[in-house]
Order: sequence, then structure tokens, then C-alpha cells
Amino acid sequence: MPMPLKTPKSHKARKLSKRPPLPTGLALMQDPLLNKGTCFTLEERRRLGLLGLLPPRVSSPEQQLARALGNIRQHPNDLLKYVEMISLMDRNESLFFRVVIDNIEEMMPIIYTPVVGQACQLYSHIYRRARGIYLSQRERGMFKEVLRNWPVRDVRVIVVTDGERILGLGDLGASGMGIPVGKLSLYTACAGVHPAQTLPVTLDVGTNNESLLNDPLYLGLPQRRLTGAAYDELVDEFVRAARSVFPKALIQFEDFANRNAFRLLEKYRRDVCCFNDDIQGTAAVTLAGLYSACRLTKARLRDQTVLFYGAGEAAIGTANLIVAAMTAEGMPRNEAMRRCWFMDSKALVESSRTDLQPHKKPYAHEHAPLKDLLGAVRALKPTALIGASGHPGQFTREIIEELGRLNAVPVIFALSNPTSKAECTAEQAYSWTGGRALFASGSPFAPVRFEGRTLVPGQGNNAYIFPGVGLGVVASSATRVTDEMFFEASKILAGLVTEGDLSSGCLYPPLSRIREVSARIAAKVCEVAYTRGLAREPKPKNLLAHVRALQYQPTYKSYV
Ligand code: NAI
Repeated sequence: MPMPLKTPKSHKARKLSKRPPLPTGLALMQDPLLNKGTCFTLEERRRLGLLGLLPPRVSSPEQQLARALGNIRQHPNDLLKYVEMISLMDRNESLFFRVVIDNIEEMMPIIYTPVVGQACQLYSHIYRRARGIYLSQRERGMFKEVLRNWPVRDVRVIVVTDGERILGLGDLGASGMGIPVGKLSLYTACAGVHPAQTLPVTLDVGTNNESLLNDPLYLGLPQRRLTGAAYDELVDEFVRAARSVFPKALIQFEDFANRNAFRLLEKYRRDVCCFNDDIQGTAAVTLAGLYSACRLTKARLRDQTVLFYGAGEAAIGTANLIVAAMTAEGMPRNEAMRRCWFMDSKALVESSRTDLQPHKKPYAHEHAPLKDLLGAVRALKPTALIGASGHPGQFTREIIEELGRLNAVPVIFALSNPTSKAECTAEQAYSWTGGRALFASGSPFAPVRFEGRTLVPGQGNNAYIFPGVGLGVVASSATRVTDEMFFEASKILAGLVTEGDLSSGCLYPPLSRIREVSARIAAKVCEVAYTRGLAREPKPKNLLAHVRALQYQPTYKSYV
């Protein structure tokens, strides 16, 4: 459990030197934010009551890192590696983040998609130690008090889920807590938001997942989901309590079912510093991928016709941002909207349908009804096919070959997570188009060898966006998160893709550059916040330097 930080009065005051006196002895070793384990020096051991509590030989940080990595890598499967990683985070956050940051391509799939999905499915069985705050109907009326149980007041980023749509895995109830924990570890690893300033929250509003309800080890409340006014009131009490207890915190809504996600975003976005990553973060990363694809094909964004498979948060959010981007290129809005088409679980979204949810209606263009995706590809002739349906294998050979016939360079994004839900694999996209496709996916796929070339699939994952946006909000103490911030973030991300990245077909920078990407996104988000009068901190001279100076580094400070 982290120890309290005082509320900062200035940028400088945020530094850890302002923290209250150090605990000593076991209490020091049991605080994961302060613990150095075998790296406590002899002097520290003498002065801080640690003598005898640790094995005698002092490790160097490199030796400690090697030991931690060995412990993780020795496990025969990814789930056990996840458990090892979370245990490490519970013991020593510096070491955990050193491991992740230095080995981001290896560790991100474990602490985030795809393995975190498996971990959530088994959450109550692999559970070791609590992390974050749980709020349920049982605590109604006391949410402020519950949030005050968290030992830190200067929380700057909250990721909150109600567990109803965890990745593409559906309703996992309170077991969804793995997602806020995983996302927040990326805020720190990918952008450098200080871990003491992050708070994972799960609203346990019940679950309709029968296997969880029947599982005696399930750790959430074994009752059906709240709906209607009771649900809305619970969410509202949380938002009000969070604003009151953590007035500078950004609230990220995560993995809510779409009937609530769109509504809640609309309800709170004008008054509360919040965003929905599934809607807005996904949009920014996908648009950046399309910009990169346009660079390769020498086309303009406004020349694209995009067919989305799935018409939920990710797909509609992305279309909204594409429309904004096309409009910025001078295209009339109604024309831009007609460049975006959707297939949902029933059929093509078109104007004769009477069963459409409100978020789909603006895209219900006039068209004859169509039931199948192949028919839609033939009729609409899209330049890009984007999957965000949570249904695997739906981009069949016939469909991809048809897209390849229509386009010299077909763009195929299979964004559904985890890997098991991807609409097609990287290998399928490349081999069925004779190696011509530009492919990106939500969860990582390994590079593919095709006719003597190595093709590198990009990871079209919002992890390229939300950590940088969050750091920008923290750095400026922004009062709101706006669509403009995501649009600008998208352009920054696309601008950081090099000719070298593009030459292997990769539409995104490698993850090894993610901290730099996030710093630049954060600086841009700060700029938007200052320009729009949304910042609460005095404006620093150099925004990029300011953001870089704030980035958390997992290095040990001397305590003596
Ligand atoms: P959602 O539940 O809001 O939307 C799913 C959509 O797919 C709905 O419109 C539904 O009608 C449609 N659908 C369901 N079954 C279908 C079928 N058989 N055929 C055609 N359409 C079907 O979910 P959301 O948030 O849009 O997420 C969808 C997927 O995208 C999930 O797997 C999620 O993990 C992934 N995602 C990926 C992100 C990334 O960064 N790559 C970010 C956010 C979501």
C-alpha cells in the first residue's frame, strides 16, 4: 500500500522530497513504492532499522533486475508470468517498472492484452493481494469515506470499470479489476505518470455472468447487475465522490458496455475531467494508423472509404474522429460521414433499419439492406476494413481476397482484443493479399515472413495514446479532456512513424520508443489545455521539457 503524498502546491512540490518522513523496518520494506529489497545499502540498513531483516549481501540494481527477470522468465506459461509480475508490483514498484520499461515488448503483452484478459477470467482463482478501490451498492452513501481510505490524496489518474465489457470477453463483474490495474501500470511504464498518483477503481454493480455467479470463489458480489436509476445513481455517487476527494484526478472510463459508455461520457464530459478510452483512445490510435497508411499509399484521408465490422464504442468513436479529420481536410461533414460504413451483429447499418441504438443512427446512410460482410465489401468498395466486433475469424479468406481485388494496397485492421478475438491474423491478412495488405491489430502479432520479406504488423492499441494524454492532463492539471486533444495526439503519433517503420509495413513506431511518443503527445495535450484555457498550472516555458521532467523514472534514490 503506497504511503501518502502531500498535495503539491507547485511543479517542484510534486517531487518526492516533499513526502512525509520515511517509515522504518518492516513497514519500509512492505511499502512497494519505497521498498528497495536487497538493494538497500548497508548504511540504509543501519539507519532505517533494516539490519537482519534482509539477506546479508547487498545487490546492485543490475543484479536485482537480473534476478527478477529470471524469476519471471522461468515460468512455463504467460499466466504464471502475470502472477509473478503482479506479485513483484506488490513488493517493489521501482523494480517492477524497471522490468517493464526495459523490456516493454516482452512485458506489455503480459501485464496488458492479451494475458490480462486471461488473468481477469481467472481473477478470483489467482487472486493474491488487493489493489485499488472497490465500490458497490453496499457502500452507497459512503463513497467519499471509502475513497478516503486510500492513503494518497494527490491522485491524478483514476481508471474505473464496471466490468461489463472486459476486452472482447464480456461481463467479468468485479474480476475486471485486472484492467484498471493493467492500464494504470501502462500510464506509468509508457508515459511516466508517477505510480503513487494512480488509482484503479472497480464499481461492483453485480454480474450477469452465470459461471461467475455459480463460482464459490468469485470475489465480487454474487448478484445480478444493477440497472436503470440504481445503476446511474451509483456511478453518479462515484463521480461526485472522486471529484471531491481527488479534485485534480482525471477519470478514465474503461470497459463499460456500450449502452452505458456513450451515455456516461455525454453526461460527464462537459463538467468532469474524464474520457472513455474505448471510444476516444481507440479512435486516436486508429486514425494515426490510417494516416500512416495514407503516407504509404500517397492518398489523402478524405479519399478513404472505411467499412467497420462492429458498430460499438471502438468503431463509432473511430468514425467520429475520422469525420473530424476529413472535415479538417476541407471535406463537408455529411460527405465525410458517408465515407464511414458499419456492419453490426445483424446487418449493414442503413437507413431502413428500425432497430438501431442511438450511437449508430448518424451513420445509417441510405443503402439497400445487406446481411453479410462479403456483400458489403462488394457493394461499398472500401479502401479500409476495420474490425472492432469482438468476434474472431470474421475476416475470411474470401472477404480479404475481395478487398485485395478492390485495392492495390488494402488496409486491414483487426482491432478486437485479446488475440483470440482478432477478426483475422497478421499472417492471413498478408498471405491472402499477396503481401500487399497494411495490417494492424489490437493485440500483438509477431512479424511475418512472406516471400523473402519481413512484414511487421503494427499494434493498433490505444496504449499508444492514453498514457500520453493522461500525462498531458497531469502536467497541465487540465480541467477537461477534449476531442481536440485526441485529434492532436493522433497526429503526433502518426508524425513519429519513420520511413524505416513504414518500409516494413509497420504503421506505428516500435514500442521501444513509447516513452518518447507519450512525452510528445503529453506536451501537445498540455498545449491544447493552455490554448483553450483549461490548464490549472502556470504555463511552463518549454512544455516538452516540463513533461519530460515530470516523467517517473524507476531508479532508487538514496534514503540516507
Ligand atoms: P462494443 O460492445 O461497444 O461493440 C461491439 C460491436 O460489435 C457492436 O456494435 C456489436 O453489434 C458488434 N458485433 C457483435 N457481434 C458481431 C458480429 N458477429 N458481427 C458483426 N458485428 C458484431 O465493444 P467495443 O468497445 O467497440 O469493442 C469491440 C472490440 O474492440 C473488443 O474486442 C475490444 O477489445 C476491441 N477494442 C480494441 C481496442 C484497441 O485499442 N485495439 C480498444 C477498444 C476496444
